[in-house]
Amino acid sequence: MGRPDIPAELGQALSKLRRVAVLTGAGVSAESGVPTFRDAQTGLWSRYSPEQLATPEAFERDPRLVWEWYTWRRQLVAAVHPNPAHLALARMARLFARFSLITQNVDSLHQRAGNTEVIELHGNISRITCSRGCGIVTAFDESAAPPPCPSCGAPLRPDVVWFGEMLPADALSRAQEAAKSCEIFFSVGTSAQVYPAAELPFSARRAGALLVEVNPEETALTASADFVLRGAAGRILPHLVHQLEAAH
Ligand code: OAD
Repeated sequence: MGRPDIPAELGQALSKLRRVAVLTGAGVSAESGVPTFRDAQTGLWSRYSPEQLATPEAFERDPRLVWEWYTWRRQLVAAVHPNPAHLALARMARLFARFSLITQNVDSLHQRAGNTEVIELHGNISRITCSRGCGIVTAFDESAAPPPCPSCGAPLRPDVVWFGEMLPADALSRAQEAAKSCEIFFSVGTSAQVYPAAELPFSARRAGALLVEVNPEETALTASADFVLRGAAGRILPHLVHQLEAAH
């Protein structure tokens, strides 16, 4: 397989710009072996879609089922490793005066690759929190069913954003600020379908940033992108970062 084509104009732009924002989605973790949301689920859980399990209603109806699904997902994520796309983003962060990494992923793979400041829009499966919202947040534990909140007794739940729920206000406002103030915005491995995350690239563009998409497939964003890099993030990003490092 040959080297991916990085447009010369993109390399030139990046050599002058200082403020970069990147939004990542499930496609970035796909090459580590974490299935994307719109992929069919495999094995034990193939009867369910994420939309049936990742909701507050599903947890209310059957907390143990949802808890078991998250236990399975957490074990899956613990057994995989950051891939070349994660590692390239960790290197990229060192090349710019301001680099904001915003992710919809809940798997900590960016942090494990070395990105220290990650804006997590959809939470993180390694944490649990009170389902009644009393504010307790703690590390996931190995219980077979949701343990009670030590403060109010309600069941603890994964500290992630479920369908129909609000995003954490602090993470969302940091992401919006990064989108509005960057000079170039990368949308990597996301289908750009789930709002408000999907709004961020458009808001960056409205504020005057260049927009770059890295995805093997066309998305809702493609038509608005200044540069479309078609292909797997694990192939394209290392090459892009290698070029940037050589030019530094
Ligand atoms: P999706 O599963 O919607 O989309 C994954 C995207 O990654 C698709 O556009 C694929 O073409 C692309 N892709 C696949 N392999 C890739 C690769 N190797 N390199 C680059 N891109 C690749 O996942 P998200 O867009 O992350 O929300 O989904 C967003 C949110 O919807 C998730 O965070 C989750 C979900 O429902 C919540 O749970 C709240």
